[in-house]
Amino acid sequence: MNDRAAVLFVCLGNICRSPLAEAALRAEAARAGFEVTVDSAGTAGWHVGRPPDRRARATARRHEVDIDGHRARRVDVDDFHRFDHVVALDRDNLAALAALRPAGAKARLSLLFDHVVGREGEEVADPYHGPDEGFETTWAEVCEGARGLVRAIRGG
Ligand code: 4NP
Repeated sequence: MNDRAAVLFVCLGNICRSPLAEAALRAEAARAGFEVTVDSAGTAGWHVGRPPDRRARATARRHEVDIDGHRARRVDVDDFHRFDHVVALDRDNLAALAALRPAGAKARLSLLFDHVVGREGEEVADPYHGPDEGFETTWAEVCEGARGLVRAIRGG
């Protein structure tokens, strides 16, 4: 069993979905007594250096996790060597990552929902342009994905 897996979540801006996914995996791994290295990044650079969206921070706080200290960064070619799993939140970002992935890199690329039985291929919708309530859906989805990912990594 690989209990020191390194996982990178990637969305577009790294201010909404992937910081929540990072927090959800950390919480789920702690509950499962499972050690994991986890980080997040974006494929776009618009928000680099900024904290997560205030709606994402508020949602995290409601679920007793804190993402205030996160600062957005852009995914880098080195990430494909540093992480075992690079996990995209949607298909556009998966395609961007596939184009960036260097030959011979160790990272396995997947969609978050590929780790949830029955939801393979589905996307975590971008809540950025939608209503505040969308962030609760995002949180529920990244938690579902995190549970599936912990199971997949422990079993793999
Ligand atoms: P994220 O959401 O990819 O989940 O962090 C977005 C954040 C910002 C923008 C789009 C999506 N934006 O257009 O600035």
